Amino acid sequence: MTTTPTTSFDEIVALDAEHVMGTYARAPVAFVRGDGTRLWDSEGREYLDFLAGIAVTSLGHAHPAVADALSDQARTLLHVSNLYYNDLQPRLAARLDALLGGGGRVFFSNSGAEANECAIKLARRHGQTRGGMERYHVVSTYGSFHGRTLTTLAATGQPQKQETFQPLPPGFRLVPFADADALLAALDERVCAVLLEPVQGEGGVNPAPPGYLEAVRSWCDEREALLMIDEVQTGLGRTGRWFGHQHSDVRPDVVTMAKSLGNGVPIGACWARAEVAGALRPGDHATTFGGQPLAARAALAVLDVMEAEDIPARAARAGERLTKALVGLPNVVDVRGAGLLVAAELAPGIDAAAVTRTCLERGLVLNAVTPTALRFAPSLLVGDDEIAEAVAILETVLQEAREQGT
Ligand SMILES: Cc1ncc(COP(=O)(O)O)c(C=O)c1O
Repeated sequence: MTTTPTTSFDEIVALDAEHVMGTYARAPVAFVRGDGTRLWDSEGREYLDFLAGIAVTSLGHAHPAVADALSDQARTLLHVSNLYYNDLQPRLAARLDALLGGGGRVFFSNSGAEANECAIKLARRHGQTRGGMERYHVVSTYGSFHGRTLTTLAATGQPQKQETFQPLPPGFRLVPFADADALLAALDERVCAVLLEPVQGEGGVNPAPPGYLEAVRSWCDEREALLMIDEVQTGLGRTGRWFGHQHSDVRPDVVTMAKSLGNGVPIGACWARAEVAGALRPGDHATTFGGQPLAARAALAVLDVMEAEDIPARAARAGERLTKALVGLPNVVDVRGAGLLVAAELAPGIDAAAVTRTCLERGLVLNAVTPTALRFAPSLLVGDDEIAEAVAILETVLQEAREQGT
């Protein structure tokens, strides 16, 4: 199926160059339509989408239940200020709380960075009540990604992304990922919280090793620091459980999420145990659009579908299938991840960015999560036939890469 282009690719690129800030190094394609795991570009070409907007459209593009909910809500009530109640926000909070084991409260944001921003403010406020004004340091890990606002950038363990924007807000400490002893060494009385991804997403799809979260939980309990888990990329079924930390027995104090919560409608959330959440008082934190009716309605529709389809179990099964298929491919030396957040490490000398460029030309959307690894994060409703099709495209590209020595 093709679409009639309204604007040609060249026109889109020219307009973009003239009017949009040049903060993105974009691939040479403009998508104009999607359906499930398929995308179409401005020239009518079809693609298999194995990135899903980086783990955002977990139910695929244009899911009818989400589309119907959005259109109904758009005709009912798009927005009211958080100066007033709306009927959808508390229902959504209750649903998320149940998925996290109950006993918590939720603040709604518009993005992952803002969900983490809320978590960091909450941790500082909570720290003040425990140890006074000096207790504001947050420990995070090298290779982590928590967002691009100045504060979440300060928590992001990628010094090269931080350099240009110094000075960043103070109060952040970085330790090696997966090293519980290094983390313990950083936990003094000035630390109010530890912020961790259960699988580092942007850092290369690095799962926390068995026992790591448990050890961090016990250090946090010992030193009275909050354990805050960033589930922005891993949350809501992606890793084969509702939340990535649920592969362990650990109960965090704070959990943040965004990406797939609205299946493409911008919404994020910061959940905290009720006792912790109580540290933020009226007037301490706010955002105009957070939890507004349109976004909350989208998220409720997403959760309805996810529960009806048992999305975590589907992601676990499909992830296993994808992983098995990738393991046998030429030039793939390692496959890692959880559920449908998967990376394939390529043989030395194979450039992951070049592989993704060729895949795009052949109709497969992927990304190079590191210079040597490909990331796969398709819709959690992806079919077995679509996995086979994507792997077949990739196999040819990797075979050619070997022959060309790229
Ligand atoms: C783990 C994690 N945290 C936070 C963020 C930031 O989210 P956003 O881009 O919505 O601000 C991301 C984005 O990739 C992420 O993967």
